[in-house]
Amino acid sequence: MKIGLDDVVAAETALSHVDGEAGRLIIRGRDLEELAGQVSFEEAVATLWEGLVPDISEDPRCLLGRARVRAFAHLAPLAPHLSGLTPVEGMRLLLAALPDAEEDHASLAVGAAAVAAAMAVRGSRSLPAVAPDASAGHAADLLRMLRDAPVEDGEARGLDTYLVTVIDHGLNASTFAARVVSSTEAGLLSAVVAGLCALKGPLHGGAPGPVLDMLDRIGRPENAEAWLDAAIARGERLMGFGHRIYRVRDPRADVLKGAVARLKGADNRIAFAEAVERTALEVLERRKPGRRLDTNVEFYTALLLDSLSVPREGFTPLFAAGRSAGWAAHTIEQARTGRIIRPQSRYVGPRPAEAA
Ligand code: ACO
Repeated sequence: MKIGLDDVVAAETALSHVDGEAGRLIIRGRDLEELAGQVSFEEAVATLWEGLVPDISEDPRCLLGRARVRAFAHLAPLAPHLSGLTPVEGMRLLLAALPDAEEDHASLAVGAAAVAAAMAVRGSRSLPAVAPDASAGHAADLLRMLRDAPVEDGEARGLDTYLVTVIDHGLNASTFAARVVSSTEAGLLSAVVAGLCALKGPLHGGAPGPVLDMLDRIGRPENAEAWLDAAIARGERLMGFGHRIYRVRDPRADVLKGAVARLKGADNRIAFAEAVERTALEVLERRKPGRRLDTNVEFYTALLLDSLSVPREGFTPLFAAGRSAGWAAHTIEQARTGRIIRPQSRYVGPRPAEAA
């Protein structure tokens, strides 16, 4: 038995495949690089949901636009309850409030994830919610709802690339959580809430904020070696490095690095991050020989979202906004198996005393 279920195959999926040895992510038969930065989030959702959500192929932009508006009608009254919560806690509250009785759960979940991410970030700062614009692109509208200010095309493209990059990723912890909930027939919206709850931990989708904290503490390239070495010596993990499946560089890191490089004025930040990354890989190689630790998606996520002026507590909600499409797809795929996920445990506790 492996406590972390390493190498255990727990589902069959036609959605995405993580090839850890080759450093490839395949989504519906296409390499990530063919989608991220090449097609809009709405088009990527249509690709992912083909054969699972009937209406998606007609006009995905329109479908998700309408879903954001529908979600906002449900969620706006909850805005006063968000102050005092972190954005990810606020997002959890909002998504949990969606009624199961609504129709077209998949697009509602994705529309709601964007609305809830923006509302929760703003609500945590006691700022009012901004209504969606159904005619806008999903990424542009999400960024506008977050900022309550116009968004440049280049910025919208940067967030679009990010949302597509994180749309799905095999049987990661949050997707597995969503599939377990789906297998009990609890419903798609409940499965998406479960996905968010699993995502928020620092070992999964909660890492990019801490990546930025780490870069801030390092401050200058010449401090990197001593700072990173001391962190490892204290037994800490370097955020943005290591992965259960990838034994080489996470392909999403390069896609996101390219997206940051395309943003105006990001050159100095990229140069600093690259210097820290290089040093971190050397320190990990020296301190953890043979572990094959490399850069994961969270490292350049931090840089990209920070460059888009997303506050760091908002990084995980934006991750969830992208991944909600994957959770929804896996939820439907799992439900079609008609079988509850119910593994066994090995009992290692005491036994009742035998009767004399
Ligand atoms: N920094 C330092 N050491 C590390 C790191 C790291 N980031 N990651 C793994 N290690 C070390 C472990 O301490 C362990 O060393 P040991 O054998 O001397 O004890 C060895 O590498 C193997 O680690 P595991 O825990 O077996 O790796 P696992 O596959 O379980 O963990 C994980 C994967 C959770 C992502 C881990 O690499 C980690 O904690 N990384 C930092 C957090 C992070 O970046 N999370 C985002 C992941 S991407 C995503 O989920 C979207």
